[in-house]
Amino acid sequence: PIKPPRGWLHLAHGVRGCASGLRYVLYMYVTALEDPTRVIAQPGGFFMAPEGWEYVGDVMNVLFSNGWICDPDGRGLVSDLKRLNCAIKDRSVLIIGAGGACRGILLPLLNESPESLTIVNRTLLKARALAEKYADRVTALSFDELEERFDVIINATSASLRQELPQVPSRVLKEADFAYDLMYQRTGDTIFCARARELGVTHVADGFGMLVGQAVLSFELWRGVAPDFMQACTELEAVLRK
Ligand code: ATR
Repeated sequence: PIKPPRGWLHLAHGVRGCASGLRYVLYMYVTALEDPTRVIAQPGGFFMAPEGWEYVGDVMNVLFSNGWICDPDGRGLVSDLKRLNCAIKDRSVLIIGAGGACRGILLPLLNESPESLTIVNRTLLKARALAEKYADRVTALSFDELEERFDVIINATSASLRQELPQVPSRVLKEADFAYDLMYQRTGDTIFCARARELGVTHVADGFGMLVGQAVLSFELWRGVAPDFMQACTELEAVLRK
């Protein structure tokens, strides 16, 4: 298990017989810090299940976990922005969304010394609560307060998963040099990336490289060897995003 502040978080795989044979899924539960045998949060259903091409093969319908670490996606994002030559230092950065994804990238982004860091969120109170943790280094705004131009715009909402666009005005999005969606999908652009391209933003990327960056960190922690990040991106891209 890994140890976030509230308890030991376990990731396990479960197997059951179903009409087409055995099916493996991953599920999670939490046990008490002082007594790791006492379950304090039950799984609310499966966490990940095989899908699409994972049904195909000699032993199909199987999902295993390995090499997971307790580290939000921020360091992977910063590695990926560097890979994409997207500088953060002295630039204005807008993060859309104020959930867990935003929380995880704030500190690593601040460590890159942006000129300014702004969070915009549908629920302003959530953006304010996050911004307060970083005193005067982060500003919180609602969508209708967005006026100025930003060099880099990062979509940290979960909207793309539902084919929705956050309400960031087109005039703000189109003026960005760089638009990045933390979500990714196997083929084609996420809806946010597609919108940014349509508006003429020249540098657009999704979160694929960020996740590879996190996997590189995880591999290094477990194996003591850091894979080459660029090479890992190129090779995984060829396999996963045909
Ligand atoms: P995650 O852990 O992936 O960040 P989360 O904590 O549920 O997920 O946060 C999702 C974020 O996406 C929230 O900031 C949410 O806005 P609210 O705080 O107002 O709920 C934002 N979000 C989700 N769908 C959105 C949409 N269609 N438009 C704008 N923001 C959206």
